[in-house]
Amino acid sequence: MSGLRIYVPRDAAALAVDAEKVAEAVLAEAKIRGIEVELVRNGSRGMLWLEPLVEIEKDGTRHAFGPVTPHDVEALFDADWGDHALALGPTEEIDWFKRQTRLTFARVGVIDPLSLEAYEAHGGLKGLRRALGMTGAAMIDEMKESGLRGRGGAGFPTGIKWDTVRLAEADQKYIVANADEGDSGTFADRMLMEGDPFSLIEGMAIAGICVGATRGYIYLRSEYPEAIHTMREAIRIARARGVLGASVLGSDFAYDMEVRVGAGAYVCGEETSLLNSLEGKRGVVRAKPPLPAIEGFLGKPTVVNNIISLGTVPVIFERGAVHYRDFGLGRSRGTIPIQIAGNVKFGGLFETAFGTSLGALVDEIGGGTATGRPVKAVQVGGPLGAYFPRSKFDTPFGYEEFDGEGGLIGHAGVVVFDDSADMLGMARFAMEFCAVESCGKCTPCRIGAVRGVETVDRIARGDVDAIPLLTDLCDTMTDGSLCALGGFTPYPVMSALRHFPDDFHANAKEAAE
Ligand SMILES: Cc1cc2nc3c(=O)[nH]c(=O)nc-3n(C[C@H](O)[C@H](O)[C@H](O)COP(=O)(O)O)c2cc1C
Ligand code: SF4
Repeated sequence: MSGLRIYVPRDAAALAVDAEKVAEAVLAEAKIRGIEVELVRNGSRGMLWLEPLVEIEKDGTRHAFGPVTPHDVEALFDADWGDHALALGPTEEIDWFKRQTRLTFARVGVIDPLSLEAYEAHGGLKGLRRALGMTGAAMIDEMKESGLRGRGGAGFPTGIKWDTVRLAEADQKYIVANADEGDSGTFADRMLMEGDPFSLIEGMAIAGICVGATRGYIYLRSEYPEAIHTMREAIRIARARGVLGASVLGSDFAYDMEVRVGAGAYVCGEETSLLNSLEGKRGVVRAKPPLPAIEGFLGKPTVVNNIISLGTVPVIFERGAVHYRDFGLGRSRGTIPIQIAGNVKFGGLFETAFGTSLGALVDEIGGGTATGRPVKAVQVGGPLGAYFPRSKFDTPFGYEEFDGEGGLIGHAGVVVFDDSADMLGMARFAMEFCAVESCGKCTPCRIGAVRGVETVDRIARGDVDAIPLLTDLCDTMTDGSLCALGGFTPYPVMSALRHFPDDFHANAKEAAE
């Protein structure tokens, strides 16, 4: 066998299941056999149940094998990386992969994340080059036309946010990328930073040039050491190659950026709390107004956007707003990288146009539960998202559509639970989470969440009279909290109560018997 190009992911999810040892085994086995191997450490293709997913390039087509253990490597070489029990065929023909529309994640898992050449060969920097020839106003029009809305949770139109910063008068403006990614079951930000870091750099540079910001920060959670390392390395390469610095790609625009590591608090994902933390202060929520777009980092106009929002900007500028906008449903335009997690057979990152039903995501794409038991509930949108019962599975994935069903899509995390889940316990967990993570600034959240745990405990002891009290408390938290941590905790609590009332009355029934 002559020279081979083999891909072994260095994504954290693959590393967690021994990808490093697989890479070592591939090199060792190749050496024994005297075969020349070019080992590429790519990001993940997103099919997490198949990790480590090893690929081999044959006649320009990549063939997948997985999940590969270090012990499988010898036999894979014996089989000439062909007919083997772990062979999955051409990677992009695997049904789960093929069903996706990959725009934001087009390069993730495909290229070596730290090869600027590979990035450019796959369309990278085209968007930035185009943006450099446009006026700020034209760039805003492009963003508005694309219909892109914030992927961090609130779904606010990105073009409008940028325009506010662009029109603000100031001697200094900033771009801040929110990589706190605290939502349960979410990993899209991490995967993008580890698998295609230049797309985030390019998106932030376009944002900077558009609004007149010369500096940017990525606020990155400390729990992501691989992403921190990859992003820092990518920034260093981009600077050395003139993508960042005093003259972006030789233009008159200056833009540079750095990574700042967060200390680990869910509330530091909230943009004003994040800005306080970035300034070296305690991560406490600031009252709005002023909006960060007017008075943000160090009191200057600041764009705060999620990693996926910013990482989607290059493809919008490369292919044009209309191309992006033409995917989607209603006011939810483009694609959304959905993270399927929890008790599910086929978990991973599935990027698709808005509009796929929740049921299709859970049953067809996710393949139902990993335990094989019936699906009981699905929590969408992180710890502040509602629980959806099977009767709501026809809800299409879209901002307004989920809102209409008393839920939210948040950062597009979908966490599946089987019929052994105790929804009263999940309601308690939501209140407890809020109590632990509350920044303490406002009373409905700081005190309400503690009272919430106590009230759920009363219900658990069979005191059904506490149910109206829980509803009342949730109303107070919704109406009176300063930010969405206290304000949205009632979503999981009330959806659990509304859709799974039996779990709240079980102990009362037992007590009466
Ligand atoms: C408690 C709380 C936690 C949040 N965590 C995150 C987070 O981890 N990542 C994120 O991008 N947005 C998070 N947000 C939303 C941010 O406040 C903000 O809306 C977002 O970063 C704006 O970017 P976008 O418009 O691109 O979505 C959080 C909000 C709240 C209330
Ligand atoms: S709702 Fe909670 S986290 Fe948000 S400002 Fe109030 S106390 Fe802080």
